[in-house]
Amino acid sequence: MIKPKLHPLVKKVLLDPSNLSDLASANDGPTRVLFPQIMSENISNLTAVLDNYDLRYSIQFAHKASKSATFIKQALKSDIGIDVASIAELNHALDIGFSAPKISCTGPKNNSFLQLAINKGVLISLDSLSELERLVFYVYDKCTPTKVNVLLRLSTLTTKTKKLLSQPTRFGISSNQLEKAYSIIQKHNLITLKGFHYHRDGFDAPTKAEFAHELVRLLRESRLYGHSPNIVNVGGSLRGVSLADSSDWTEYINYLCRKLKVNGDHETWGSNPYGMQLSINGGIVGREKALSLVSSEDATSYMSTMLSTKVDSNYTLGTNLADSLTHLMLEPGYALVFNAGITILKVIDLKQDELGNNYLVTNGNMYTLGTRMYEPLSDPIHISQGKLTAKSWKGYIVGNLCREDDFIMQRKVTTSSEPKIGDLLIFPNTGAYADFEDTNPILQEKCLNYQCLIKGKNINFSKD
Ligand SMILES: Cc1ncc(COP(=O)(O)O)c(C=O)c1O
Repeated sequence: MIKPKLHPLVKKVLLDPSNLSDLASANDGPTRVLFPQIMSENISNLTAVLDNYDLRYSIQFAHKASKSATFIKQALKSDIGIDVASIAELNHALDIGFSAPKISCTGPKNNSFLQLAINKGVLISLDSLSELERLVFYVYDKCTPTKVNVLLRLSTLTTKTKKLLSQPTRFGISSNQLEKAYSIIQKHNLITLKGFHYHRDGFDAPTKAEFAHELVRLLRESRLYGHSPNIVNVGGSLRGVSLADSSDWTEYINYLCRKLKVNGDHETWGSNPYGMQLSINGGIVGREKALSLVSSEDATSYMSTMLSTKVDSNYTLGTNLADSLTHLMLEPGYALVFNAGITILKVIDLKQDELGNNYLVTNGNMYTLGTRMYEPLSDPIHISQGKLTAKSWKGYIVGNLCREDDFIMQRKVTTSSEPKIGDLLIFPNTGAYADFEDTNPILQEKCLNYQCLIKGKNINFSKD
């Protein structure tokens, strides 16, 4: 068993499964329940860490983590900012009531997104030199030229000695394009360079501290080119502890490695379980990456480790940022809605293939849970709609699409009682990067989202 770590509010709702059965029966498609109170708690926990340092900082909720108005409204209520990555996200944030100074925008921008961002006066993180050139065009090419504040997003970070701090990404401008960017901005006094931006996934806190330190160095360097920025934006990618016991995952991955080595049935769909494969020397490639799918560090301890990492001989990153009057900007998506959503899928069929593999077919699919981005790793919670049987069941949980790859989870799952058609499966921690069904080319029933507010014994659900 790989058990999830549940938030007490989620546990409270699960205590009376009839709540969820009622919601699920109102829709043929999947159901998602969102907990804005948990988001609010995640935000408070993070700000508590940042407040320990005498820092200027801002937290921008990365809208792309969720389309839900519930979460965007909660971000507004918690008085944090928002980071938008499309014109639709920008309009959504404005409609919900965010004012321009609370909005930043990142990612590749088409002309209409860029124009709206300029007109609204939001902070724009530039993704390429060409985007900067288009920005210049739109800022000046109209009757009332507008002032605009920008960050330069970097695709590479090199230290003074030209050492590369991590592999380049395709987002942002490279270090050898920086001088050109400085010079373009310098020549256009309506455009102000406010700082630098670097977002990467999958680095530990001390390495992230090194990235931030390098961005602070760039703030100083850019002054030589006539700029006076003070923002360092280190992006998102904070995680959370999603399993009740993280060592369950390590044990499971070790089991898979053993199976792979003897060419045994590893009971996962496809030949590369969680990206792992046998090397030509008989070793396992990809084990570390598979292990890293589960974090044993929550966002707050990651943040405190990052800020207390010594970045030059005597000073921590936190002290350095404070002393240099640098404004630290964060753009977490996942971490702010961590554990703040559950998805309910209904069992629509149970079947077996020629090899004897069992399949549980659900009314959701790989878009409902965005399994290509964040596949559920812990066992779902089985809610039987009738009598529990003493017989356990083991098999694959799949979606309702007519596609071979529509697996909700790539590993076989065991339930202690045999599931039946109409039963429910609850997937915890699916508030972030989970609702992609708009991109579904097949017209399956859509997911219905509810927000859940809990006050004492009262549990209240309303449409998102
Ligand atoms: C530029 C940028 N900022 C922030 C985020 C949010 O990342 P996370 O949800 O991992 O915190 C992303 C995610 O892709 C991103 O591309």
